[in-house]
Amino acid sequence: MFSQRVENLRPSPIRSILSVIDRPGMVSFAGGLPATDVLPAWSGTISRELLQYGPSEGDDDLRAVVAENLRHLGVDAPMERVLILSGSQQGIDLTAKLFVDPGTTVAVDDPTYLAALQVFRFYGARFTRLGSGPRSEPSEQARLAYVVPTFANPTGVCMTSRDRDDLAAWCMRTGAVLFEDDPYRDLVYEPCDRAPVTARMRGGSWIYQGSFSKTFAPGLRLGFLAASEDVFQHLVVAKQATDLHSSRLSQRIVHDAITAPGWVTRLADLADFYRARRDTFDAALRRHVGDLASWEAPSGGLFFWLRLHEAVDTRTLLADAIDRNVAFMPGEEFSPGPPAIGTMRLNFSHAGRDDADGGLATLAAVLRDASRSPAA
Ligand SMILES: Cc1ncc(COP(=O)(O)O)c(C=O)c1O
Repeated sequence: MFSQRVENLRPSPIRSILSVIDRPGMVSFAGGLPATDVLPAWSGTISRELLQYGPSEGDDDLRAVVAENLRHLGVDAPMERVLILSGSQQGIDLTAKLFVDPGTTVAVDDPTYLAALQVFRFYGARFTRLGSGPRSEPSEQARLAYVVPTFANPTGVCMTSRDRDDLAAWCMRTGAVLFEDDPYRDLVYEPCDRAPVTARMRGGSWIYQGSFSKTFAPGLRLGFLAASEDVFQHLVVAKQATDLHSSRLSQRIVHDAITAPGWVTRLADLADFYRARRDTFDAALRRHVGDLASWEAPSGGLFFWLRLHEAVDTRTLLADAIDRNVAFMPGEEFSPGPPAIGTMRLNFSHAGRDDADGGLATLAAVLRDASRSPAA
């Protein structure tokens, strides 16, 4: 009854965990949720025009602002090559649709964003690891290279300038299409080179995408992409076939927010807010799991990446943790191949100080119980 593709369709573990996080008393370190306290309130009015169908590429006023921001980042994308997305997750789907046939090789980091792996797998991709060959290159040729260079999900790592240069050079030399996913770039707590890999491309094919979910409001489902000339129009057609266009009301709300005089201050305040949350979380981690795991405090983004001293598959701990009202993301889920065992991704943006402390104490108890149990 179903297409062959459905054989590779797996439910996202994040979505399943998100379905329990509203349970009373639950502390979630699982999703990449912004803090509810910093979500905006909207007081605008809805004009009728916004309720009408609109262009697939997106509304021009928002595309123009995005293009201007991209120009500052050194990305060569006039507004004619900006496409507004219904969340940047849609950009992953459209890109996979265009480039991935069953058996197509996609180069990715290990670990990398699991919902990207989920989409690529759905279309039948096989993976090669970036960094497995010489000079941080993959050991195999790939049609597409998917990267989150700035405050990666799940590790929080910011790719070095050298690796960014090398990756751009490798894409240009081999003809691999660079697909740079950049939703965390504005959540920056310590300086690091965030100049997009895309800005280092001289020719070649590329897609660069960003999101308004992490800096503004994920429920509006709005992101954007820009692409090289040879690719852009195909993405527009793929979007036409998918949802015609993104919500015009969301586009209006985001446009008004990011062009308001307070936007730059909002971004700075947000970074201050999350930097403080990161530091509080780091201190609580040291208190509760300092003897059980190692980690580096991320210089941006929303996640801590824990490497447990004991090689326990953290997927086996999740049900117990959820029973005790704490949710986390097993790190093993983020691997394109056989995973390194004993890793966890913890989101620090959503839980406040007391919840973070209590939740990490519980998580530490789950880990200690697992290491005492004979099955571990
Ligand atoms: C690396 C990465 N890409 C894309 C997304 C999807 O974001 P959205 O669809 O909300 O723009 C996320 C969400 O967590 C992410 O971490």
